[in-house]
Formats: sequence, structure tokens, C-alpha cells
Amino acid sequence: MDPKYRTLFDAGRERSATDSVKWDVKPGELPMWVADMDFDTAPCVLDAIKGRLERGAFGYSDITSEWKNAYRSWWKRRYQTEIPEEWLVYSAGAIPTISAAVRKFTTPGEKIIILTPVYNIFYNSILNNGRVVLECPLLEIEGTSYIDWDALEKAAADPQASAMIFCNPHNPTGRIWSREELIRVAEIAERNHVFIVSDEVHCDLTAPGLSYVPFCSLDPDKTSHVISCIAPTKAFNIAGIQTSAVVASNPAVRHKIWREINTDEVGEPNTFAVPCTVAAFSPAGEEWLEALREYLAENRRMASEFIEGHLPKLRVVGGDATYLLWIDCSYYCELYHCDSESLAKRIREKSGLILSVGVIFGPGGEHSLRMNLACPQKLLTEGLHRLYFGLQPEDQI
Ligand SMILES: Cc1ncc(COP(=O)(O)O)c(C=O)c1O
Repeated sequence: MDPKYRTLFDAGRERSATDSVKWDVKPGELPMWVADMDFDTAPCVLDAIKGRLERGAFGYSDITSEWKNAYRSWWKRRYQTEIPEEWLVYSAGAIPTISAAVRKFTTPGEKIIILTPVYNIFYNSILNNGRVVLECPLLEIEGTSYIDWDALEKAAADPQASAMIFCNPHNPTGRIWSREELIRVAEIAERNHVFIVSDEVHCDLTAPGLSYVPFCSLDPDKTSHVISCIAPTKAFNIAGIQTSAVVASNPAVRHKIWREINTDEVGEPNTFAVPCTVAAFSPAGEEWLEALREYLAENRRMASEFIEGHLPKLRVVGGDATYLLWIDCSYYCELYHCDSESLAKRIREKSGLILSVGVIFGPGGEHSLRMNLACPQKLLTEGLHRLYFGLQPEDQI
């Protein structure tokens, strides 16, 4: 890794007093929960923001062809996927898109399939819109999660099931789904008239040497019932800029999702959305991202080795993508007669370390915790020691 990037990642960013959701904690607490990073965004993105800032006026902004070309060239370069210009629709975020799709492609009371444990906000998009969650738990075999095909067939065959929210790579387990798995998911959904929203916002955060398969790289004839959410926000730590794209190959579907996004008034970019996206998906952004992926891989290795050496009763699950570590804490839940919520509370109270509670991710998360590894290695080491301390029985401290 270029030493200039290591210096940046090692320095990180002190984020207290920046209205950060993640860092809205008590003095002395160490938050490793909410999924954003304690690093500055790429220097080229910062420069783009500064350049725009200096222009002074912040009126309404256009979605430019530069914006579309930034996505198109990134997906072509990195994922060998041609996205025709007209397939792209602007949206202020993946979750606004998912909620819009729920409203447009399903009716109240219908069921929406999710593969649990999964990003908890999917539940909000379903329940807040008066739809019903249809949980289809993933199978976990020797530390890797798999789709339970029989369960998915059964769920999709439910006449009330009208859509599925798919996550690729999967948050929280970091699983990258293969082309064969995507084809099978698409086929089951199509056969049962189930619409698919594929949330791919973590796709640029695969481990070095690994890639992901975009849903939109599949045969459009077999995926006319699929839309995908893509964005630079996770990989470039610009979630607060609120920007993303929807990919929809089917013109009728595209029109509908565009209509709903615009009815919700989340279809117009803020001043920084376009310049940030263009800068992120540039060669300079790519160079920074490659360094970030290496640093995150080191963090994952550090955490896994620490857990193996000092907390062997914990079990790390999956982990080929995202900066999130999904940890099975069944041993400690049994030891302390609690679920992951009480275990997280215990760790927080004893050590100040704040982790995401597994139960919020649905079935399969009852005894797990999620640790956000996207921080300087010094902070990660501190977090791991706090985890150790937080898990010890009182009489062994
Ligand atoms: C899988 C997944 N989808 C969506 C989001 C949020 O996306 P947005 O901010 O674009 O709505 C997150 C944030 O953590 C996420 O992990």
C-alpha cells in the first residue's frame, strides 16, 4: 500500500462533535456499530467538495451525463458490466429506493421476503409501509452463509409474497453471492411473480482479489423483474451526502420506480451528490479504494487472529466483503443466560465498547454481534481488548 494512504488510514478522523450518529456516545465509549468509517473520504472526493463549495451558490442541481458516465465506466472497468445510460435513475439513497419499490410494486398487507439475518432497516421499509415481513433464514455451514433454497421456494410460492429485498454482498455476514446463486434467485422469483430489489451498496468493499457479480450483469431477459441499488456512499464514506443510483433494465419497471422516487421527492441531487460521485468513481478514487480494501483486509485479519487467540469461544462468520465482522457469541449467551441484546449491553457497560446487536437483524442474529472494523488499527486494537474485557466473567477480571 502506498505509505501516503496508510498514514491517512492510521490517522483516521476524530468524529466527536460532528453530529455523527455513530459517535453520539458517552465520553470514553468506543462505538463500533453504525456502518460508516472513521476515515476521511478519498482526497479526490474532498477536493471535489471543496471545489464546489468555493463556487458559493447552492441552488438546485442537475443530474448530468457525467454522473451517468461515472457509474457506467466504474461498472465496466471493475465489474466488466455494461450499463446502458438509460438504465440509470438517480435516487437520494438505497433505502429511499427500497421503500419506493415496496410502495410501487406491492400492495399493503402483501409479504416481502428477506434472507435473515439482514440489514435491519429492510424491516423498516417493509413494516412502515404496512407490508408483512416474510423471513427466510440463511443456512450457516462452517462459517459461511448459504441460501436455504427449499425455504426460499416455499416463501416465494406463498401467493401473498410479492417482492424480495436481496442484499449483495450481504450485510451483516459479508457473503458475496455467486452468479449461479443470483440466477437461481431470479428464476425462483420470476416463476412466482416476485419482484426483486437488489441492494448492492457494499459491492466495492470486497476483500482484495475478490469481486462481486452485479445483478444487472445477468441476461436482461431473465431479470426484467429486478432493480439494483448501487452507490459510492459505503466505499467512500459519504453516506451523509445521500446519493445513489437505481439500475433498471426493463423500461416499464424503470418508469414506475422513477415515478415513485419522484413522488417521494428523493429524485433530485443535492449540490455535492454529483461531484462526489464523479470524483469517487475516477482513477484517483480507485487508487484510494484499492488501498482502503487492503487496510480493511488487514483489520479483518487482526480481528480474526485476536479472536482466535484470546476469545476462542467466539466464532467469526463469513467475511469476504464489507468492513463488518459478524460474530457468533452463542457460547457467551449461554454462559450469561442472555441474548445478543443483553450481551451487547453487558459489553458496553463493562468496557464502553458499542457493537450492533444481532437480534435486530432478524432470525439467525439472536446470539450474534456485529463489529465495525473500519477504523484506524490502533482503535481496532483497543476495541478488541475492550471486547475481551467485556466478555470476562466478574471473578476473572
Ligand atoms: C445493506 C445496506 N443498504 C443500505 C444502506 C443505507 O443506504 P442509503 O444510505 O443509501 O439509504 C446500508 C447502510 O448501512 C446498508 O448496509
